[in-house]
Amino acid sequence: MSKSVLILPGDGIGPEVMAQVRRLLDRIGGFSLSEGLVGGAAYDVHGTPLADDTMAQALKADAVLLGAVGGPKWDSLPFADKPERGLLRLRKDMELFANLRPALVFDALAGASTLKTDLVRGLDLMIVRELTGGVYFGEPRGIEDLPNGERRGINTQVYTTSEIVRVARVAFELARKRDSRVCSVEKANVMESGVLWREEITKLREADYTDVALSHMYADNCAMQLVRAPKQFDVIVTDNLFGDLLSDCAAMLTGSLGMLPSASLGAEDANGSRKALYEPVHGSAPDIAGQDKANPMACILSASMMLRYSFDMAAEADLIDAACQDVLNAGIRTGDIVESGMTPVGTVAMGDAVLAAMDKRSGG
Ligand code: IPM
Ligand code: MG
Repeated sequence: MSKSVLILPGDGIGPEVMAQVRRLLDRIGGFSLSEGLVGGAAYDVHGTPLADDTMAQALKADAVLLGAVGGPKWDSLPFADKPERGLLRLRKDMELFANLRPALVFDALAGASTLKTDLVRGLDLMIVRELTGGVYFGEPRGIEDLPNGERRGINTQVYTTSEIVRVARVAFELARKRDSRVCSVEKANVMESGVLWREEITKLREADYTDVALSHMYADNCAMQLVRAPKQFDVIVTDNLFGDLLSDCAAMLTGSLGMLPSASLGAEDANGSRKALYEPVHGSAPDIAGQDKANPMACILSASMMLRYSFDMAAEADLIDAACQDVLNAGIRTGDIVESGMTPVGTVAMGDAVLAAMDKRSGG
């Protein structure tokens, strides 16, 4: 049975990095690929950052692969039409509540981090970010006029027990396959939603995961610890907004946003499969779009996560990951990670190199 993948390249560098992923999926074979518009690209054609028809396709697909959304061209659009709303609708309507953001330092890139090499060498941490709740979606929200002529902007941080428990379960399960340590992050010192978060996760661990070590940390301290001693972490589980901030911070430890993939997962259905969307952590980088400069690795590694988590194709995912390592070890680098003495290449040549490394490994 062929696996249906909806490809949404999006804006900026999205289409060019996704083109490399398509080559790779064609090479592996067995997928039925379709393509749609999201973000500014969708707005320009349909007047909305995600057409209903595309949303319906996403709900039907076995997995969705997304490039990136946004750019200065659409900055002045009304809030509801902004490219980011397309991505947020996908997350919400597919109920992708668990966002997995690994921060992994490839040996060959340890020197590319802005932190001292020994602080990050061997770093392998996973941030599990809650993705469909919290202040991103909480009601009430909006901007209102006050009688005294002032205006008031409102967003609401809100979590229910079930929202906390289901994302915490994902974190505990992942930790079991890693170093069995979860650090839960909130601001229980100032926020009731944080108090509830801490209580529910503690209860869940006592009920079902006593084999996993659980610690708690305030979000501000976590930001500090991530740049002070990042290797202390195994799995971090946190809410939507803190996860947004901390995952960018963790990403930069690895030297380049151009290297980091992510997976967003929904609940398991009766057949044990989950709705899922895979996307690089980097944005649309409009400043370098269309110039064959972007690093396609984050998008390629997102496709690898798709094979691993949605299609049970661990061997193929391992092959892609290893091929990416080979390319880095060979000193073939896009501009974001190039160092002196290495071979600077563009997006397409980086894709060529990954494909060649795959062929070489599989004896082709
Ligand atoms: C991310 C991005 C998004 C977010 C934006 C593009 C809406 O920053 O995926 O981290 O804030 O979640
Ligand atoms: Mg972000």
